[in-house]
Amino acid sequence: MHFPTISLVFCLFVFQPFVYGQLDYKFYDTTCPNLTKIVRFGVWSAMANDTRMAASLLRLHFHDCISNGCDASVLLDETSSFRSEKDALPNLNSARGFELIESIKANVEKVCPKTVSCVDILTLAVRDAVLLTGGRYWNVALGRRDGLTANITAANTMTPSPFESLDDIIAKFTAKGLDIKDVVALSGAHTIGFVQCFAFKFRLFNFSGTGSFDPSLDASFASSLQTQCPNQDASDTTLVPLDAVTTTKFDNMFFRNLVNNSGVLGSDQALMSDNRTSAMVINYSKYPFWFAKDFSDSMVKLSNVGVITGQNGQVRDKCNLVN
Ligand code: HEM
Ligand SMILES: *[C@@H]1O[C@H](CO)[C@@H](O)[C@H](O)[C@H]1NC(C)=O
Ligand SMILES: *[C@@H]1O[C@H](CO)[C@@H](O)[C@H](O)[C@H]1NC(C)=O
Ligand SMILES: *[C@@H]1O[C@H](CO)[C@@H](O)[C@H](O)[C@H]1NC(C)=O
Ligand SMILES: *[C@@H]1O[C@H](CO)[C@@H](O)[C@H](O)[C@H]1NC(C)=O
Ligand SMILES: *[C@@H]1O[C@H](CO)[C@@H](O)[C@H](O)[C@H]1NC(C)=O
Ligand SMILES: *[C@@H]1O[C@H](CO)[C@@H](O)[C@H](O)[C@H]1NC(C)=O
Ligand SMILES: *[C@@H]1O[C@H](CO)[C@@H](O)[C@H](O)[C@H]1NC(C)=O
Repeated sequence: MHFPTISLVFCLFVFQPFVYGQLDYKFYDTTCPNLTKIVRFGVWSAMANDTRMAASLLRLHFHDCISNGCDASVLLDETSSFRSEKDALPNLNSARGFELIESIKANVEKVCPKTVSCVDILTLAVRDAVLLTGGRYWNVALGRRDGLTANITAANTMTPSPFESLDDIIAKFTAKGLDIKDVVALSGAHTIGFVQCFAFKFRLFNFSGTGSFDPSLDASFASSLQTQCPNQDASDTTLVPLDAVTTTKFDNMFFRNLVNNSGVLGSDQALMSDNRTSAMVINYSKYPFWFAKDFSDSMVKLSNVGVITGQNGQVRDKCNLVN
């Protein structure tokens, strides 16, 4: 064979498996050119009514990706063959944004039927949610496919809990190919959104049997939280902002709060008392640029965890049901 032909055949054989099924920035450019506009308008409209929606979408995407890969499994309703991840403890009465993704998906279906996966819509929506709350833009490579099943066990065991140690949280990230820097940067998502009192109440009254609040809490901030969560019932679902200073703005205030002993979650404040993470917290608290840069880089990594591509999975017609 002629040398260029041999090289071409060689290239096809060697490189096709790596290229095949990979994500692509132009994936829907010809099949759904208005996709990004439809998604951005959907997120913008929802946020005009409910500013918390940005936070809820961001958390939904995290929970989707960290449990069994980004596959929109978190959006599926229960069927006779699997339980819904919506009923997993970290999501029950807490995960939000399902109706918005369903409604954006319906608008996309009108223009480009059976083309765009629910997981790609959620991934784009999250990029826009961060942008619209003041965060930095990043490019999203597309072509993820929707999963065929949900896994409530994965959602229960892989989603980090505010009651567990930093070591355990780091282990859940590293199990997905994310590192300690990703843990710190992505935790900065807690610069927007809300948390129910029960998730941190143990820090406020008789912490570890000491008769007082958690010593890693600033005294005046502790008393403010005690006022906001006065109900001694441990199942208190009252909502408190994760960032009390700039609640709806995607900035580095989460890290400034941690430096000030004003993290709401014990698991967040722990980032400040561990020498593997505290220098990064201080860095991000001083330099908003480094936080914005590292956050967007880590979001790209998160959005690529365990993705399904090529002929695997499917493009769902509706996000809550497999076809
Ligand atoms: C590092 C371990 C993490 C833990 C232990 C954790 C825990 C929590 C908890 C307990 C809540 C409040 C839920 C409720 O009370 O209903 C929450 C909210 C939230 N989380 Fe996390 N989280 C973690 C990491 C992340 C990451 C990596 C992201 C995104 C990249 C994220 C985004 C959010 C957002 C935006 C909210 C507010 C949601 C809303 O207001 O609807 N979290 N998180
Ligand atoms: C995309 O949207 C624009 C208006 O924003 C419209 O004029 C155009 O026809 C749409 N293109 C397609 C392919 O739907
Ligand atoms: C507006 O937001 C509230 C929650 O804050 C929600 O209950 C309501 O359905 C939303 N309305 C629209 C039109 O999306
Ligand atoms: C569900 O997730 C758990 C925990 O990650 C895993 O052990 C199990 O194999 C998964 N089940 C299925 C059917 O994939
Ligand atoms: C705090 O907890 C300890 C240990 O559980 C208990 O002995 C003590 O009575 C509690 N103090 C108050 C004020 O509830
Ligand atoms: C730390 O908290 C105090 C109030 O407790 C506040 O006056 C100060 O501005 C905060 N510092 C930062 C960097 O946010
Ligand atoms: C971090 O702290 C641990 C124990 O607290 C210590 O063994 C280790 O040397 C420290 N590492 C650094 C980089 O300071
Ligand atoms: C802050 O973080 C950025 C990005 O991770 C890094 O390039 C820079 O060296 C860090 N600066 C300090 C002073 O740690």
